[in-house]
Amino acid sequence: MSSHSAMPPVPPLTWDAAHLAAWSEPHLANVEAALSRWVGVDAPVLLGDAMRYAVLDGGKRLRPLLVMAASEAVQGRPAAALRAACATELIHAYSLVHDDLPCMDNDVLRRGKPTVHVKFGEADALLAGDALQALAFELLTPAANDFEDSVDTVPPAMQALLCRLLARAAGSQGMAGGQAIDLASVGRALDEPQLREMHRMKTGALLQGSVEMGAACAAKVAAPTWAAMRDYGAAIGLAFQVIDDILDVTADSLTLGKTAGKDAASDKPTYVSLLGLDGARAQSRQLLTAALAALERSALPDTNALRALAHMVVDRDR
Ligand code: IPE
Ligand code: IPE
Ligand code: MG
Ligand code: MG
Ligand code: MG
Repeated sequence: MSSHSAMPPVPPLTWDAAHLAAWSEPHLANVEAALSRWVGVDAPVLLGDAMRYAVLDGGKRLRPLLVMAASEAVQGRPAAALRAACATELIHAYSLVHDDLPCMDNDVLRRGKPTVHVKFGEADALLAGDALQALAFELLTPAANDFEDSVDTVPPAMQALLCRLLARAAGSQGMAGGQAIDLASVGRALDEPQLREMHRMKTGALLQGSVEMGAACAAKVAAPTWAAMRDYGAAIGLAFQVIDDILDVTADSLTLGKTAGKDAASDKPTYVSLLGLDGARAQSRQLLTAALAALERSALPDTNALRALAHMVVDRDR
């Protein structure tokens, strides 16, 4: 093919699981320590306990890892990346607390523990979610004396962009909007475009937003690189919920840390109910291919962590 000479060089082989684990370890430790420092510390006692219960010691922390990987790929500011990573996890944790409420999915198990409303009551679960959402934006808008290092700060324009990206991912055009469609779709058969839109909003938006926020930790990212990172985020974001639908059918509650089989029991339209297990798996592979292709278009010198995270999204068993 004559276009061959214009193709980007073949990227190095994706890291294996051990390599990804070694890369993730310090980031996970930093995020865990920061969350423990920042979440629920000056809240009234029961609310603070509920917030910490919802956030600490659990979860795969995929959204923070995406922020960190994207920020490293563009050589973003570490202080901004840490705050953005924690902010995405706070929005995610809040979405899980509310998702589990009796008025939504009515779940009793999350991250291997009783859900927040089972442990603390519905009112405090609702408020813990509210407070986690607010805290996410507070973390993104630090005061000058919040920084330990006077060089590694978060410039005001960067703070504003991070807030905007997170607000769009969490709000009516993203997670909250998708959750509304999810609830309105119980017992209904959606076609593939409708299901894709629901999944893109309720889950994909925050994962894509995490990648974008990581990219926004650099002062400047070229437009084609930004577009490629968006495409990567969109592809893995949708793939993530397709796999969540699959695991709801194929995995057990102990492995998942949440009640398996809930989607069919609640008559929710999913990629499995629409396409079957094999069809849903094929979709997830296509989305992985699309995500990796986007990284090749990005012109970023090192996308190993982003590549490995894309594989992890699709190959995970919990
Ligand atoms: C579960 O998300 C909810 C969805 C958006 C599908 P995760 O599978 O990332 O949950 P944790 O954070 O690991 O508990
Ligand atoms: C939840 O989707 C998406 C959120 C925004 C929380 P699910 O309802 O499928 O998530 P799980 O399976 O309860 O984690
Ligand atoms: Mg739900
Ligand atoms: Mg649920
Ligand atoms: Mg699910």
